[in-house]
Amino acid sequence: MSSVAVGFAGVTKSYSGKTVVDGLSFTVAPGECFGLLGPNGAGKSTIARMILGMTQPDAGKITVLGVPVPARGRLARKGIGVVPQFDNLDSEFTVRENLLVFGRYFGMSTRAIAAIIPSLLEFARLANKADARVADLSGGMRRRLTLARALINDPQLLVMDEPTTGLDPHARHLIWERLRFLLARGKTIILTTHFMEEAERLCDRLYVLEHGRNIAEGSPHALIEEHIGCHVIEIFGGNPQELSSLIRPHVQRIEVSGETLFCYAPDPEKVRVQLRGHAGLRLLQRLPNLEDVFLRLTGQELEK
Ligand SMILES: Nc1ncnc2c1ncn2[C@@H]1O[C@H](COP(=O)(O)OP(=O)(O)OP(=O)(O)O)[C@@H](O)[C@H]1O
Ligand SMILES: [Mg+2]
Repeated sequence: MSSVAVGFAGVTKSYSGKTVVDGLSFTVAPGECFGLLGPNGAGKSTIARMILGMTQPDAGKITVLGVPVPARGRLARKGIGVVPQFDNLDSEFTVRENLLVFGRYFGMSTRAIAAIIPSLLEFARLANKADARVADLSGGMRRRLTLARALINDPQLLVMDEPTTGLDPHARHLIWERLRFLLARGKTIILTTHFMEEAERLCDRLYVLEHGRNIAEGSPHALIEEHIGCHVIEIFGGNPQELSSLIRPHVQRIEVSGETLFCYAPDPEKVRVQLRGHAGLRLLQRLPNLEDVFLRLTGQELEK
């Protein structure tokens, strides 16, 4: 097997003169779970589509599973399973029929597809839904079916664009467990997500984007250490501007997101003392996580 599952070298893409992927270079190793993070419009889905050979770069080189893409996109796609950001299941067909149609797209015989369907449905916890119309499934069941469908060709590489968006916490945990199972079997996963907990739990390495440019890269733990590295106190229920001037001397950094004040403090007790006597405030003290990194790297900083 090639030592690189996916390679981007100087890849650029513009739409109507606006650069949405700006000279990106990265490699994804076989067996790795590589997370693409970034705000809405950062270019994540465009990258996912370029890996599939469905969007042509303006410049740069892409290799996927050892072949150049999009030149040999058809061949690359044989080894890829896809969970697109927006489901494209056929609503009028049953669950089983959707899998049959998709398997034929990979040139599989009806018999071979029929043989694999029970295990796919079992994997996606949809065994009792084989003959249900997709239109009658819940959103979470549709997402699980899309995941099952992505596995029909036993792909080496999975490209998953927000696989758990819109799912309830049980369904999300189930998909996480399924993805960990696939990783344990040596699959390579490229995952885009807005759930920082998902990225933190699953990804070996993260690639953070803003406006099509890479702004940070590393393991979840390394990014948290590098960019935060101290306690976090979330404060709700007061005027963020007034509170920030009160506690400013005792914190490393303050950020406001909506109604919440995020304080990054080496000694959280000093912040608590400052806020004593302020009725109606709610304080949550916790260890730093990837969401803090995301807010710091891509959010509006109030002050340093
Ligand atoms: N086919 C297209 N034609 C024109 N502009 C496009 C097209 N596809 C994407 N874009 C633009 O490219 C930018 C990046 O879009 P993309 O879908 O890659 O973002 P994203 O990071 O996946 O965002 P989200 O988190 O909202 O899914 C956006 O500004 C989007 O409007
Ligand atoms: Mg997207």
